[in-house]
Amino acid sequence: MSQQSLSRRAFVSAALAATITATHARAETARRIQVFKDPNCGCCGAWVDILKQAQFDVTVTLRTNSTLVQEKIKRGIPAQMASCHTADIDGYAIEGHVPVRDILRLLEEQPDAIGLAVPGMPFGSPGMGPESQREAYDVFLMRRDGTADVFSSYVDA
Ligand code: CU
Ligand code: CU
Repeated sequence: MSQQSLSRRAFVSAALAATITATHARAETARRIQVFKDPNCGCCGAWVDILKQAQFDVTVTLRTNSTLVQEKIKRGIPAQMASCHTADIDGYAIEGHVPVRDILRLLEEQPDAIGLAVPGMPFGSPGMGPESQREAYDVFLMRRDGTADVFSSYVDA
């Protein structure tokens, strides 16, 4: 069949199908996340479980304390943004107990940045105990120049 014999309608639906397939492929790539964590860190494991429940394709790489610090330095994560685990998703770094909704928003908005961080380990952040007892914390967008902006804020419960 020649290109010209394709009806416009068939052409449009073929293009639409191709777009949908590309969107699905992209969504699957975006959900692949590699987590670097200390083998003895329980809260990191709890965060990984939350990602898995949210349909992320998680690979866990174990790193001892000093090599875990190297992973943070390598990605340009400032010391004041540091937490326990470090993860890579779609070219971004995710530092600490970052909520799933913030990761999804990052992937959607695709800002020019290193990634997201929840410094320290705030109580009630994902993997850090019940949300009903949450202490207030911010999620930061780590910029390439070493600065960080508040990406989202969670009030105390
Ligand atoms: Cu932790
Ligand atoms: Cu952790």
